[in-house]
Parts: sequence; C-alpha cells; structure tokens
Amino acid sequence: MHWRDTAFELGSRGRKAHLTVRGLAAGYGPFMVLRGVDFEIKPGLTVILGPNGAGKTTLLRALSGLIARAGEVLLDGEDLPDVTHEIVRAGVALVPEGRQLFSQMTVLENLELGGWLVPRAERPARIERVMNDFPKLRERATQLAGTMSGGEQQMVAVARAMVGAPRLLMLDEPSLGLAPRMVDELLTIARRIADGGTTVLMVEQNVKKALAVADRGYVLERGALVASGPAKLLARSTVIREAYLGAESSETTTASRAVSATSLRTVESRMDRGSSAQ
Ligand SMILES: Nc1ncnc2c1ncn2[C@@H]1O[C@H](COP(=O)(O)OP(=O)(O)OP(=O)(O)O)[C@@H](O)[C@H]1O
Ligand SMILES: [Mg+2]
Repeated sequence: MHWRDTAFELGSRGRKAHLTVRGLAAGYGPFMVLRGVDFEIKPGLTVILGPNGAGKTTLLRALSGLIARAGEVLLDGEDLPDVTHEIVRAGVALVPEGRQLFSQMTVLENLELGGWLVPRAERPARIERVMNDFPKLRERATQLAGTMSGGEQQMVAVARAMVGAPRLLMLDEPSLGLAPRMVDELLTIARRIADGGTTVLMVEQNVKKALAVADRGYVLERGALVASGPAKLLARSTVIREAYLGAESSETTTASRAVSATSLRTVESRMDRGSSAQ
C-alpha cells in the first residue's frame, strides 16, 4: 500500500484533536454494554478491534451523542458536549456502519449535506477540496448515490464527513462487505486523512490490514478493553494472533489468553516510558 504518498488537503489546520475518555459507560435501556472504559485517542490513526457484539459500535455511538453516556470525555481537555449537533460542531464526525447515504440524491448533493454546519459561503471551496482528495467522486458527481458500488458509496460517506472538516473522524467498519482491493483503498484513505492532520478513530474487523495502516490499537471484548498498544506490536502479539489472525491455537485457553494480554500490557507500558515507536 502506498499510503504515505499524499496526505489529504483537507487536514485540520489547527491543533490536532486529542480525546481522553475515563469511565465511559453506555448501553441500551437497562442493558449496559460498556462499563467504565478508559482510553485515549491521540493524533494519528487509532483502530478498535474486537469480536461481534463487543460494543465497538456502541462506543462510537456514545461518543457521537446518538445514545446516552456516563463518564468523562474530554476533547483537547474540554468536556465533549452530550448532544449530537454540538458534538459535530465541536469537530467530531461519525461515518456510521452501513454508510447511510441518501440514495436518491446525487453524489454532489450528498456531499453538500456534509456541509450543513459550514458557513454557506465556504461550502463550494470545501467541496472542491474534497473533490481533489477524492478524484473518483468528481467523475461521479451527478450519479445517484444509490447506484454506486458499495466501495464507492463508502467513499462518498467518508468524503461527506470530510466536507465538515472534522478534527476527529470516527469510522465504523469502513471496509465492511467490500472486495479486498476496495478494502485497501478505504484503509488507505483513512491513513491519508490521519496524515492530513485529522485524528482518526476507526473500528475494523479486518485486523491485519487495519493494524498495518494504524498507529495504535485497542481490543474491546464484552464491553471492556483487554489490550492496547502500538499497532506494530499488537499485530505481533499473541492475544491478537491467536484470537483474530488465526495463528495455530487449538489449545487457546482462557489462562493463556490472559497471559498474552498481560505481556502485551507490559510491552505497552515499556513503550509508553519512552520508546519512539508510534
Ligand atoms: N439498539 C440496541 N438495543 C439493544 N441492544 C443493542 C442495540 N444495539 C446493540 N445492542 C447490543 O449491544 C451489544 C454491543 O453491540 P455493538 O453493536 O456495539 O457491537 P459491535 O462490537 O459493534 O459488533 P459488530 O462487530 O457485530 O458490529 C450487543 O450485545 C448488541 O446486541
Ligand atoms: Mg458494530
């Protein structure tokens, strides 16, 4: 993958976004999915991995204000608002699972909707810059979004979020259901957005490919974070290789998983104490 080639034009010009989350709890009615989750999203590209039902989407929805949350969420040291439109205004955008485009509208019209919070006079320039970053969409500007391929639609959804020039972009499984080449293209786009200065938090099931483009990763299981660290180390860790990469593990017991998670944390704390790995 050639993801270092060009950073996106549409990077946030100001300071890069940094999110600190402490004791995050969220769920559906009486059913709490996340109970006291702590993590930090630094500038760059962070991936959240984990099995189906772990609470990854719930986490992104809680941070977007789509469901209620408890706990402390700080964006650059300031409390993140609770209500979605204020969260968007604070510079946090979500591209939800399943894209949610307006299929009967053109690509350009979908992009224009991404600029609803941008002052009217600035919208054309913003859309022009997004078209530069996504040249394929310029060719398709007048096509109905619903007639595009899955990968193209995902691209429109990401581009639409970028029209609002978010400082923190959250992507829920951008590669879901896509062919391998499109998966690579979408993950490359996520990398280029991060290189352009927008902090990216991405949920992914494509563990190997996601860790190859990410700076850091977290593993969420049953509503709790069980491992975290620099992406390169996570990719080599026993907990990831056994649970997600299909390494030979017919004897994977709870005990051995616990040991690998512990050793991973040890690696991580060593890294935090001063290694240059990102
Ligand atoms: N609207 C809802 N009402 C009740 N329970 C829900 C709702 N949405 C999700 N859940 C439950 O919350 C838990 C976490 O779901 P979530 O969608 O966050 O998982 P996920 O990690 O994103 O999984 P996947 O990889 O399948 O997308 C699951 O047990 C799920 O059944
Ligand atoms: Mg999900």
